[in-house]
Amino acid sequence: MTDNTEIRAKSSERVSGAVTARGNVIVNCTNVQYTDNEIQTRYRYERVTAHVDQGDCENVQVSTIQRFYRFKTKKQARKLGLMQVGWGGNNGTTVTAAVFANRHNLNWCTREATHMPNYNGSLTQAATLRLGFDETGQDVFVPFSSLIPMVAPNDIVLGGWDISGCNLADATDRAQVLEPDLRRQLRPFMERITPLPGAFDRNFIAKNQLPRTTNIIPSEQKQVQLDTLRENIRQFKSQHNLEFVVVVWTANSEKYAVESKGVNDTADNLLSSISSSHVEVSPSTLYAVAAILEGCPYINGSPQNTFVPGVLELARREKVMICGDDFKSGQTKMKSVLADYLIGCGIKIKTMVTYNHLGNNDMYQLTDEVMWKPKSASKSRIIEDIVDANGLLYRHGEAPDHVVVVKYVPFLNDSKRDVSEYTSETFMNCHYTTIMHNTCLDSALCSPLILDLAIFAELFSRVEYCVEDCNGNFKPEDYTSMDVALSVLAFYMKIPRTPPNEPIVNALGRQKSCIENMLRALVGLPPENHLLLERKCPE
Ligand SMILES: NC(=O)c1ccc[n+]([C@@H]2O[C@H](COP(=O)([O-])OP(=O)(O)OC[C@H]3O[C@@H](n4cnc5c(N)ncnc54)[C@H](O)[C@@H]3O)[C@@H](O)[C@H]2O)c1
Repeated sequence: MTDNTEIRAKSSERVSGAVTARGNVIVNCTNVQYTDNEIQTRYRYERVTAHVDQGDCENVQVSTIQRFYRFKTKKQARKLGLMQVGWGGNNGTTVTAAVFANRHNLNWCTREATHMPNYNGSLTQAATLRLGFDETGQDVFVPFSSLIPMVAPNDIVLGGWDISGCNLADATDRAQVLEPDLRRQLRPFMERITPLPGAFDRNFIAKNQLPRTTNIIPSEQKQVQLDTLRENIRQFKSQHNLEFVVVVWTANSEKYAVESKGVNDTADNLLSSISSSHVEVSPSTLYAVAAILEGCPYINGSPQNTFVPGVLELARREKVMICGDDFKSGQTKMKSVLADYLIGCGIKIKTMVTYNHLGNNDMYQLTDEVMWKPKSASKSRIIEDIVDANGLLYRHGEAPDHVVVVKYVPFLNDSKRDVSEYTSETFMNCHYTTIMHNTCLDSALCSPLILDLAIFAELFSRVEYCVEDCNGNFKPEDYTSMDVALSVLAFYMKIPRTPPNEPIVNALGRQKSCIENMLRALVGLPPENHLLLERKCPE
């Protein structure tokens, strides 16, 4: 019996109740219209502008600006294909195994229990958001996916590339993420699948990966590699009758490409560098260019600079969405919660010292100093916005001492251990130390993010908006897509890519609110402000 068993049994005595409704949400408001094909909303958006007076007093002049947005979202989720670069890796195989296990409802035994498949860890599948009170005063929550039509992960058609030619059943065994009883049942679904040969350049990957490299496009010409990748995407689309494809990089971290004028600074220079097989065009950039030229959103799950300026210009030119960089899945996610909590409460973090150790192939590759550099940079920048937001605690340019240590421990395989120590100064400079330990299979943290990213990329590319002029007029031809940099999905990324002039937000709470409130906007609901004014100040 746990401490709360008795209380839970008497749920009628609970102060507040909550119900989770699983059906679709229909918003009955004058600003929302459901047509046969679209959800159309008129959305009031109020923003604040602040002007800080020069001089010692730093008074702030504040005004609010109100705009009316028109959103229209196609109701029908499209038949979605997800192509993973690095399909045979730990993440790639775990995503695939989970989809097969859920689709076929496979149960498996461990010594503790019989388990059923799920999509826990996914916002779209396993998280809820609050709508409001019902007539009885209960809070009503709904799954994210019931607010607006989204692709179900079971319906996603999977494909992709890997430079390792291992079939997916053997690759799943190699990953050692899932239980043997499940892997045995998955074998018939996965053993006949071998990833497409990958675009490869030995200069961008650690030497310790070379023994795995058995499945590469048989040409070192980058133009040939690009053309092959584009052809692969087209074939995948037509073979499975897909309406939309998203490409996700979940292959090894690469070394940084050198960014230079004339090489990768513009879309045209990049395309000509590809045709001349320039050494500084990385494989990941080739995949991104291929995806963009085929009209498929590209998501970069690793820290390298795939999105050189030429790729960004190309994405804008072709109006194809991109999202990056580097999945935010474990320790970094915790950091962006804990730092937000501590600094947000006026507690000054002085040191953040974190250790990870694990033994998977990704970690093995990161034992190479050159490959570790981008990862180290990505892990280190995770709380910048949180520090910058509190000029009372931190002087301009001041930041906590931040140390990130990662070690390769082969025996642990994908089971990542992370230990973090935060030492802060609180009231009257008393020290406050928080120590945290997490153990989790790295790919179990990351795989649901990959599915969410594909599902959201499909959804947000169905959205169009325009802004009314001050007389409330708009022209139907003014409707346009959201910015190509999918910063609404910053929640999933260590260093989120943002539209020009949009600051990076790392704090996890703000990132989650952003997704939630964007979904609410698409169905004409006001942003969640947690005020519950109807209770605090009843009418
Ligand atoms: N929690 C997480 O798992 C997590 C969190 C953040 C970022 N990431 C990033 O996700 C990526 C994948 O992680 P993983 O654990 O699955 O790694 P992994 O090493 O198990 O898998 C990577 C796969 O990519 C393949 N690959 C390498 N270069 C390729 C290329 N040019 N073309 C096609 N395939 C290629 C490799 O053969 C390998 O099978 C890594 O870059 C990692 O840094 C993972």
